[in-house]
Amino acid sequence: MDHNTEAVSKVTVPWILERKLRAEKISCLTAYDYPTARLVDEAGIDLILVGDSLGQVVLGYDSTVPVTVEEILHHLRAVRRATRRALLVADLPYGAYHVSDEKALEVAIRYVKEGGAEAVKLEGGRKRAALIRRMVDAEVPVMAHIGLTPQSVHTMGGYRVQGKTLESATELLADAEALQDAGAFALCLEGMPRELAAIVTQRLRIPTIGIGAGPDCDGQILIFHDLVGLCFLPRTKFVRPYADTAANLRQALAHFREDIVGGRFPDDSESYHWPASLQDQFEREVTRGTQ
Ligand code: KIV
Repeated sequence: MDHNTEAVSKVTVPWILERKLRAEKISCLTAYDYPTARLVDEAGIDLILVGDSLGQVVLGYDSTVPVTVEEILHHLRAVRRATRRALLVADLPYGAYHVSDEKALEVAIRYVKEGGAEAVKLEGGRKRAALIRRMVDAEVPVMAHIGLTPQSVHTMGGYRVQGKTLESATELLADAEALQDAGAFALCLEGMPRELAAIVTQRLRIPTIGIGAGPDCDGQILIFHDLVGLCFLPRTKFVRPYADTAANLRQALAHFREDIVGGRFPDDSESYHWPASLQDQFEREVTRGTQ
């Protein structure tokens, strides 16, 4: 643990904001279940996101679009039970905030009351400003998310890096400023040139959390399964795998199967035993019963 991790026993929204003032980087990861959330929290990661990426990473969907509020809530509760220190943020999935602000607010409040979320995240620029104001008024902290927003896959025509032209970079900067003004406590910047992310980061008072947005953001987030090498999707440029968990698991599974087939699992030390007296008694009973 570094000294900053030791300094705080519970990460809060004000603490995240302070990190920016102190120019201290913020570490973030996704988690979707109890064991991974425990590992992430115990490693001292500052923020855990129950992202809608769970759709692709653990539920096997083609995109994040089909993910439902109930699916996020189910995983959020498991992550809540494991998380002590990190700030817990839950994603609003596609459809949860596109019909009306009332419906969106209801979902956000359910996440806080029923799932134990401490903040929510939603995708989109200026058009989300009014909704973010309402959520903040209702005491729900909001992390905004711009750039490559996976829920807009059909509008974007695929997963494309954003902000590559003067016009779209200017739009994204205006979005970032509007989201900050609306009261977002942090801004996720996904899939954009590092130069643009650096300018947005410099211009804002709230921290930027980058994913595929270069090293100048105030913090970084990755998908847990990408980090540990447990993903079946093609690897994107910005992912640095720190482990090859899929290879380790494949090896363990093959070994397990071979041991069963070869009669080596379980062995005597992995078996329960009768006391010797019961062995004799039982054999006598069985023999008597068959006479
Ligand atoms: O759903 C998710 O995991 C995300 C991160 C990629 C930021 O939105």
